[in-house]
Formats: sequence, C-alpha cells, structure tokens
Amino acid sequence: MNNEALAWLDKNQEGIVKNLAALVAVKSISTDGEHRPEIDRTANLTCQQMREAGLQNVEVLRTGDSNPYAYGEWLGAPGKPTVFLYAHHDVQPVNKVGDPKDDWKSDPWTLTRRDGRLYGRGSADDKGAITAQLAAVAAHLKTRNALPVNVKMVVEGEEEIGSKNLMNFFDQHKKKIQSDVIVVCDTENIEVGIPSITYSLRGIVAVTVEVRSAATPVHSGMGGGYTADAAMALNVILSRLYWGDGPLPVPGLYDSVRKMTDKERKTFRSLPFDEAGWRKNLGVPDKVRASNEKGLHFFEQTWRMPAVTIIAQEASSIKGASNQVLPRATAIVSCRIVPDQDPELVQKQLAEFLTKDPPWGCEVSVKPAGAHCNWWMTDPNGPAFEAAMAALRSGYGRDAVGIGCGGSIGFVGPLADLFGGAPALLLGIEDPLSNAHAPNESLHEGDFRKLMASLVNLFDNLGKLPGDKVK
Ligand code: BES
Ligand code: MN
Repeated sequence: MNNEALAWLDKNQEGIVKNLAALVAVKSISTDGEHRPEIDRTANLTCQQMREAGLQNVEVLRTGDSNPYAYGEWLGAPGKPTVFLYAHHDVQPVNKVGDPKDDWKSDPWTLTRRDGRLYGRGSADDKGAITAQLAAVAAHLKTRNALPVNVKMVVEGEEEIGSKNLMNFFDQHKKKIQSDVIVVCDTENIEVGIPSITYSLRGIVAVTVEVRSAATPVHSGMGGGYTADAAMALNVILSRLYWGDGPLPVPGLYDSVRKMTDKERKTFRSLPFDEAGWRKNLGVPDKVRASNEKGLHFFEQTWRMPAVTIIAQEASSIKGASNQVLPRATAIVSCRIVPDQDPELVQKQLAEFLTKDPPWGCEVSVKPAGAHCNWWMTDPNGPAFEAAMAALRSGYGRDAVGIGCGGSIGFVGPLADLFGGAPALLLGIEDPLSNAHAPNESLHEGDFRKLMASLVNLFDNLGKLPGDKVK
C-alpha cells in the first residue's frame, strides 16, 4: 500500500473538490451547439489542472471540426505499462424535458455539498472522473515525484453528442496515444459503497421517422375527417412498437441476441436491486407497472436485452395550437442493442417495421438519426482485471462486482482493438442516485474518495507488471 500517496489524497480533499467545482462552474453543454466558448474553457481548464497534477506535454488537440480534446501524459516509467485514461468534459443541458430546471435544489453550476453528496451538472458525468484521475496522478507525483506506470490522458468534449470524431481522433493520433490498458470512469457502481467493474455495454442506433399526408395544413373545420391526419398516423405507427410485457414486436430483432447463460442470470440476480428505491427516485406511481418482459429481472432486461425508446416527437406545439389537420409529424426512435446484434441490421429492421402499411397510405420516410454505436462485452479476467479487483478491494474495503451497463460508450471496443486487444477497465463513478442527465445530478463524496484511492492502488498494481504482460 502506498500510504504516502493515500495520505496526500486525504490531506488535499478540499483542494480536489475545488478543482471539480471549477470544472462544474463552466457550462460546457455540447448538445445544443451554443456553448462552444464554454467547451473551449473546460478544455483549457482541464489542461491547466493536468499541468498542476504534474502531467507533461499538455495541449488542446482537435481533429477536423471536433470539439477540443485535452491531452496530457507522463512517460517516465520505461518498461512499465502505459495506462490510457479517458474522461469527458462536456455535459448535458439542465432543462431538457419540460422545464425541470426548477427541480434543481441548488444552482446546477455551483458544486454544492449536501448530505454527503456533491451536487451539480457534470459532477458525476463526467467531470468527477477528470478530477479523480488527476488526483490519483497527483497523489503519486507530489509524493514520490514519479508514477509507477506511464500515463496518457484524453479528455473529450463531445461524448454527450455521440463522440462522432473520436475514432478519427484516435486514428490520427494513434502513435501518440498507443497504450497497454484503458481506464474509463464513466459508468456506475451498482450501489453506493460497492465497487463495480462494467464488462458489457449496450450499443445504440436511432432513426428519425417522418410522416407526410399533405403539403400544407388545412383548417380542421374544412378538411377534418377527410384529410389524413399525419400526427395520428405517426402515433398509430409508433403504437405498433408497444410491447406490453412481452418481447418487442419488431420482426427478426432477437434473431442474433446472445442467450444469457444460467450462470449470468444467477450472478445478475445475486446483485442488489432496490425496486422500491427505483420507484421513489424516479417518482413512479404505485399503479404504473415496470415494462420489463415477463420473467426478466431488471438487470437482465437493461443490460442484455434490446430496448426501443421514443426520444422525441413533433407535430406542432401545444402553445400556439390551432384548429388544423397537421400534414407532417416526426419522431426519433432509438434502440439499445446487445450482443450479438448488428447495428446496421437493427436499423434496417426498424426502418422496415416503421414504414410498413402506413395508415391511409401516408408517406413515411425513415433516416438514421444521431446516435450510433455498437455494443461491447469483454471477459473480465486476466492480469489487468486482477490488478483492478485488488485496487478496488483496498480502496473500498470490499470485493468488487462485475456488472453490465444499459448505456453506451461507443469507443471502448474500437479503441481496445486499435491498441491490439488492450484490456478496458470501466470503473464506477456514478451510483443509482447520481441522476446523470437529469436535475440534481450528484456524486457521492465517500465513493469519490474511495475511487481516487483505488486509482492510486491501480497504478501501483499495474506498475508491478511488465509493460507487455497486462493483456
Ligand atoms: N455515462 C454515460 C454512459 C452510461 C449510461 C453509464 C448509463 C452508466 C449508465 C455516457 O455519458 C452516455 O450518456 N452515453 C450515451 C452515448 C450516446 C450518445 C451514443 C448514451 O448511453 O446515451
Ligand atoms: Mn458520461
């Protein structure tokens, strides 16, 4: 155990939280294209914090018209493994659905300590990871003037909009970033206090579906009843996706879904899931049932099954509604995908399903929408995972669990491939109460500290392995 570095973390906790507060204070929202100056600012601030932590050759990098990446490295451990650290400095908006901005109990851009948690947009997703990784680096460099491993750190500025330039960026800087092991902190711990290593992610594809019935709206008193209602037609089409408590009705969708083994099911069911807590946290009324397929446990459903979500729908707005038959209606339908589904095929299956037999013969067009990435699943065994298990055990004071994730982080698989099959360690930073992407996002401060201690240990453990023996 590296007691000096761990003591450094304890002594500097307030300064570490200040660093996080400085990042949270910048509104680096990437989803609306209106906060480019703020995204530049978090990139620069991240660079500044990288330098303060002791990283070298720190710079802002870009590829094409991408948002800025912050890059820093420390390469003073020849022969030792090179650890690739990833986090993102962009965040979600604060009032995405309706106007829940009012629901924030404290200003989203002022990191606020309350009941053992640190509240603010990006505190957990994913500015907390920047801070945690840099604190672990600093703990080593400030106490021993060296790290037990080499470190290359990339902090992205467009994760929340699908990382569309990231693979280009990786290709372009392949030599510079080549590493032996990948460490990402952008997933969950299954429960506060339970360190969790995520070994599978769902992928995602999405389509925009547009229904057209006429070139122009018509007064509903004149044409209502005779002119096909595009909004109605769209909703008929969407309603065909309703799955009740069965499987999704899209033909062929499950053909290549990998069967869960009995062992997996048993493991999933042995993990803690608090149904009442889930209800309370989301405000789900008692009479509203969960929409899982009959017989599937929460984790089976959300980690290992495809899911369809209507993420947006537009025909006209309530405000300014008038008596018209609407000639056009649009929705975005997204689908989470799982091993061994093929993203292109799922997109095709969705498109066919949505365009088949339109009400009144309306014109229906389907085109790919933003998000698009593949699922990922790895075998969480081998020296790197052992190093991580041991690091988390001493950081959290209990054994880590292996979990899946219903969300998507598109680059993990392709980057591991680019590095020639490097292990990817996805260590939890969020927890079920973190409310990422929603009002009152927060980071559990106790777990945040345990994560930083674990990262200090992880560098030590990986440093005991020769550079070419991590895989
Ligand atoms: N941190 C999330 C991934 C995640 C989701 C972890 C749920 C744990 C639980 C990440 O920032 C994210 O939101 N990813 C997007 C990717 C998309 C834009 C391609 C997602 O999953 O929607
Ligand atoms: Mn994230």
